[in-house]
This record gives sequence, structure tokens and C-alpha cells, in this order.
Amino acid sequence: MMNAHELDARQAARSDGETASRRRRVSAALAVTCMLIGAPVPARGEDGGNPSAAALIEALLEGRGPVGGPFDLIDHGGRRRTDADFRGKLVLIYFGYTHCPDVCPTELQALSLALDMLGTAGDAVQPLFITIDPERDTPSHLADYVTSFHPRLLALTGQDSAIRKVALAYKVYYARAGTTRGDDYAIDHTGFVYLVGKDGRYRGFLPPGSSPEQIVEAVRPRLAQPE
Ligand code: NI
Repeated sequence: MMNAHELDARQAARSDGETASRRRRVSAALAVTCMLIGAPVPARGEDGGNPSAAALIEALLEGRGPVGGPFDLIDHGGRRRTDADFRGKLVLIYFGYTHCPDVCPTELQALSLALDMLGTAGDAVQPLFITIDPERDTPSHLADYVTSFHPRLLALTGQDSAIRKVALAYKVYYARAGTTRGDDYAIDHTGFVYLVGKDGRYRGFLPPGSSPEQIVEAVRPRLAQPE
């Protein structure tokens, strides 16, 4: 099953005659992302050969190429966690970083409110916050951060290479913004919420800025499915 956004994107991509509308969708997503992360997003590979934000967003919106896959990370309690640990749960994944001034806190707040709205049905949902800033986001720092949002929110960090791998697998763009002075830097990043089914397979995404109600709407029907 795909969500409405993914279906829209696939339909938009179906014919060459609709290229213009597809481009508009990508531009709109970029605009939203830029607005949300509060910084310009480079249009084409300015990050050492990694795909550009536009390329990643376009691929995600069009459903081009696989999304998701295995990961091997460390949780905020210092325990090793792999994707296999979450089979049987509907997993919501958000990539961000704890020093993010406003967007990440807003998204995590929306996820937390959605969990509360789901009540006991939400026990089958596992929300994951994967940091794209493993240098500063140590497990203990992540523990302080996520527990201030929701007791069931689990944060994951890991080696740079492991973070880069899982982020690319989910077509997440992230790069340090502007000049960095020691430990004081911001990170531009895309902010989709990913839905992963009980079988570990990617199901779709919610766009940045989704409300708690929209998250509940996307999650609730999937909880009833046996998969
Ligand atoms: Ni952020």
C-alpha cells in the first residue's frame, strides 16, 4: 500500500506529457523543505558527490528506486539495534538532530501527540528518531532529548558511515549548513516521516509539517492490517 502522496507522485510521473506537473511537485516539496529547514538547499550535488536534495526528493516523490532497508545502529540506552528488532511493529521514522532549532522539535511533538491520540492502539507503533548528527548526538544526549517528547520515542545513532547509509536508503538529504565554528553548526535536512510496515518493508511517507491528526489518519488503517 502507498499513501496518497506517493500515489499522486506515481500518477504524476506516469506520462511524459505530465513532466511539467511533476517538476512543479518537486519544486513545491523543495520549497516546503527549504522553508521548514530555514536555509537554501543546493540544487545539484554540492556535497562531495552525494545526491543533491532535489535528486533525493524527486526520487522519493516519484517512488523511483527502493526506499528503506536494513540498519545497524545504537539506541539512546546504548544498545545495538537493527531493523529486525522492530518486526511486528508499525515503524515511524524521522531523521533529524537535537540541535535543530525548530523543525525537528515540531515534528517530534506532532509524532508524540499522534501516539497519544492513538491510545492503546499506539502500542503497536514504534516511533524512531534517527540522528543525522552522530558527532554531537551521543546516546546519553539523545536520551535526555527524546524522553522530553515521549516515553516511547526511541532515538538511534551510530557511526558516520552507518548513519549515511540508512539516510541514503531513505533518500534523506542532510548536509552541514554554512560555515561551521567548532561545535556550533546547523544541518540542512529533509523532514519526511517514513512508514515501515510490520514486515519491515517501506509503506510510504508523510510530508514535512504533517499534523498529529494526519499522522493518526495514515497510521490507524495500517494497524488493523495483519500484514
Ligand atoms: Ni531539524
